[in-house]
Amino acid sequence: MSKPHILMARAVFPEVIDKLTQIAHVQINADDTVWTQAELIERLQGKQGVLTTGGDRIDAAVLQACPDLRICANMAVGYNNFDIPAMTAAGVVATNAPDVLTETTADLGFALVMATARRLTESEHYLRAGLWTKWSYDMFAGSDIHGSTLGILGRGRIGQAIARRGAHGFGMKVIYHNRSRLSAALEQECRASYVSKDDLLAQADHLILVLPYSAESHHAIGAAELARMKPTATLVNIARGGIVDDAALAQALKNRTIAAAGLDVFEGEPAVHPDLLTVPNVVLTPHIGSASIPTRQAMAHLAADNLVAFFTGKPLLTALNTDPR
Ligand code: DGY
Repeated sequence: MSKPHILMARAVFPEVIDKLTQIAHVQINADDTVWTQAELIERLQGKQGVLTTGGDRIDAAVLQACPDLRICANMAVGYNNFDIPAMTAAGVVATNAPDVLTETTADLGFALVMATARRLTESEHYLRAGLWTKWSYDMFAGSDIHGSTLGILGRGRIGQAIARRGAHGFGMKVIYHNRSRLSAALEQECRASYVSKDDLLAQADHLILVLPYSAESHHAIGAAELARMKPTATLVNIARGGIVDDAALAQALKNRTIAAAGLDVFEGEPAVHPDLLTVPNVVLTPHIGSASIPTRQAMAHLAADNLVAFFTGKPLLTALNTDPR
């Protein structure tokens, strides 16, 4: 049987390309260009597989224009860039990269909780600007992490890993809200108590968002929700842009409706709402939740392993829809 053709939508580790080259003709994206939809469609012609990242949208228009496509393997756990019903209808397999990034992403989430509460970037900018001339009793005084209440919106693997860090590592009281509850055993392991969304907003000293993006979670945190939070509270978003109304958040930070925020994801990223760039009480990172070298390698290998499994007739590792083979 002749080798399939695979497109790498973005640049990736050379060893992952080598792995795929064993079983397929591979077209790479050597200079890591972010293609427009038309450019992606053009390069997908004659390709049966594609390795995508979270920014590469596969929707009905792409599927219709690329009739040879049979599998899209996402190098991300989130897959809101995939129109799963359209892919299923077109008989195209979708896979993602769960589990391998859970702990690394939870680490970054916790780093943002700490950096936000303790005003790390704000104070570093002050020092670098040569403004530090004396110690003062209230200089960059923030809020405590240990012993405070950690609120988690979402209950997936990353949320659980954050709960464990908070409860076991920092003696925090952990509360969470989600449409569905964790099992009693998991609640006990994470030492997390289920509360209503209103109680989560009202009680959390530090609120972290870890829910997937969907039409339902769009602007789950907007002006009304921010107004329900404590004025001393911090908010961290490591989930997806669009879950927070960034314009409303910038306004709330300006007005000190809440004390501070830490954001790794943004509405319309890599663009960042201009008002977020001018408020001091926000820590901003460029979507690096899963960005440790071992974890990014594991994510890329998992995506590639799904492609290899598909084209060598083996079971998929992490399928998101039914395998039509
Ligand atoms: C994911 O895996 O969904 C991350 O956001 C990508 O780093």
